[in-house]
Amino acid sequence: MENNAKIIALSGKGGVGKTSVSAAIVKLLVEAYPDKKILAIDADPAVGLSTALGIEVETTLDDIRKEIVATVEDGNTKAAIELLGDARYKIFDALVETDGFAFIAVGRPESAGCYCKINAYLKEVISLLSADFDYVVIDGEAGVEQINRRVMEKVTHLLLITDASKKGTQVISTIKSVADELVMYKKLGAIVNRIPDKSIIEHINTNGIPVLSYIESDNNLAFFDIEGKNIMELPEDSNIVKGVRQALQELEIL
Ligand SMILES: Nc1ncnc2c1ncn2[C@@H]1O[C@H](COP(=O)(O)OP(=O)(O)O)[C@@H](O)[C@H]1O
Ligand SMILES: [Mg+2]
Repeated sequence: MENNAKIIALSGKGGVGKTSVSAAIVKLLVEAYPDKKILAIDADPAVGLSTALGIEVETTLDDIRKEIVATVEDGNTKAAIELLGDARYKIFDALVETDGFAFIAVGRPESAGCYCKINAYLKEVISLLSADFDYVVIDGEAGVEQINRRVMEKVTHLLLITDASKKGTQVISTIKSVADELVMYKKLGAIVNRIPDKSIIEHINTNGIPVLSYIESDNNLAFFDIEGKNIMELPEDSNIVKGVRQALQELEIL
């Protein structure tokens, strides 16, 4: 089946602005494409995109996965194909539909240790849902794990988010080298977020990764943070909104 969804995923070190940038992307897509189907996925078990978008989450992908596992363990003799049908139905049912976009969260698996089960599930869900949407925005987990586990395999636009720190730029270099092997991306670029001012730009080395935009520290966002307001309402002239618009234009998404 031909699938033309633009699947935009964000990756990078923790705390660099992946969730804020994801929310700003959703905001700009919703404004630019009111007639398109837009989906936001919070793929970070640390959770945050729902708050940034002002959404109440009831059911997560992890809840659905657990229900299905429980059905199987109960010795329910439903055929595998029926279980798949159930899962599909439950996933579409769990989508939160709001003004202009839909939302789903991977959730926070409680069982100790490994997120690998939910990551394997997430990969299938991304494939399943992207057939029904024009734009999918995935706020990824910090670090390289989801890239490594091929969760992001079908991503078409990979956005690497960093701050100005060496640690941040090293993490995006590592992510890029793994993504070059394991992600079928069409376009890739970096956003350097939360720089104190433009004078430091010449000192930042992204190891050859093209920088789509530099975003200066955003006071509006800081105030929104304090008041717990969601990013959909950020003024258009906020640094983060301007910087994300520029990055999306560079990627020819806007
Ligand atoms: N450009 C910016 N200016 C000011 N604060 C920012 C900026 N980008 C992100 N922040 C703040 O930094 C914190 C971490 O951002 P977040 O988007 O949650 O990062 P991540 O998802 O990568 O962990 C949040 O409190 C967010 O509001
Ligand atoms: Mg986050």
